[in-house]
Amino acid sequence: MGYYVPERVVTNDELSKIIDTSDEWIQERTGIRERRYGRKHEETPSSMGAAAARIACERAGIQPEEIDFIIFATLSPDYYFPGCGVLVQRELGIANREAGALDVRNQCSGFVYALSIADQFVRSGTYKNVLVIGSEMHSMGLDFTTRGRNVTVIFGDGAGAAIIQPSGDPDRGILNTKLHADGTYAEKLAFINPGSHGGYHLNKMGEEFDYGYPPSDTYGEIFLTPKMMEEGQYYPNMEGQFVFKYAVQKFPEVIKEALSDAGLTTADLNMLIPHQANLRISQFVQKRLGLNDDQVWNNIQRFGNTTAASVPIALCEAWEAGKIKDGDIVCLAAFGSGFTWASALMRW
Ligand code: COA
Repeated sequence: MGYYVPERVVTNDELSKIIDTSDEWIQERTGIRERRYGRKHEETPSSMGAAAARIACERAGIQPEEIDFIIFATLSPDYYFPGCGVLVQRELGIANREAGALDVRNQCSGFVYALSIADQFVRSGTYKNVLVIGSEMHSMGLDFTTRGRNVTVIFGDGAGAAIIQPSGDPDRGILNTKLHADGTYAEKLAFINPGSHGGYHLNKMGEEFDYGYPPSDTYGEIFLTPKMMEEGQYYPNMEGQFVFKYAVQKFPEVIKEALSDAGLTTADLNMLIPHQANLRISQFVQKRLGLNDDQVWNNIQRFGNTTAASVPIALCEAWEAGKIKDGDIVCLAAFGSGFTWASALMRW
């Protein structure tokens, strides 16, 4: 494992200078004290992903040239297309190796989904070294006005990476992964514009949404209309309370599903690494599952919500801090936009 977070620390007080918010509000509602922002023009999701990947390769005792396949999870890609997988391949200097690269677009549960794909490839004997990355540079796409404050204060930048290899010990490694989705609420936490939807989904749901498209049948002329620009419709949209309620229901469900499938209970769990969505969500899940403080790792206070990067950063940090030891039962769990949610249970 390896992780990379940009140097620049952005405190709640710093945000309070440009947005109508306060350190007190942010800490009370989310637990966040500060987050990191990447260096504009110098850092991107793929460059940060590569930085995390280099650390992971070194610790796994492999050269980047030995990577057989790359899976990259992000919602804030460098480009609309191509994906970050090929960019990180190039950044690592291994593009000439022509190993496959895949992007996963599952937002907060992206890393756990990506891990599950890697697990299938390794288990089937297809690949020996799969690089899995979760990386985000949210700071480039947030609304730094009071209009966007409910979203903007939550998110931060960073990257985490893992090399997934076959284990010589059949009792250790990934025990199971559980992947779920419910597209009913796709727009409750979404980045809708620019897109190729032309208002389709919302109009179908009976929610007329005026994007300011001119009444013409012309194609190919608009990704962002003046109205979208004016109203800031090109920023992430989140119905916070709705997301919160769904998250606190699905997190415990998918954790229990993983444990019960492996014949284990919460008492067997040495470490839960929840996606760092909101400290209150993690605390709710901890309480619901009856876990003590030593069984759950939280770092949202220092990094904010880094979406696809949050699980690998937290896992790596907990392991580096000596909180995860060989043989421990570790559960990763995530929930986010889609809605999608997932868990991965492993014996470390
Ligand atoms: N600073 C100050 N006030 C803010 C604010 C901010 N950053 N963001 C919102 N507010 C205000 C609202 O305008 C609202 O004011 P009003 O009562 O005058 O209308 C008030 O605070 C309450 O807003 P609400 O959205 O109901 O707050 P909340 O308690 O639900 O907290 C979230 C907002 C976003 C922190 C919370 O809903 C949340 O964390 N939800 C889950 C989000 C999440 O986890 N997303 C990622 C999923 S992977």
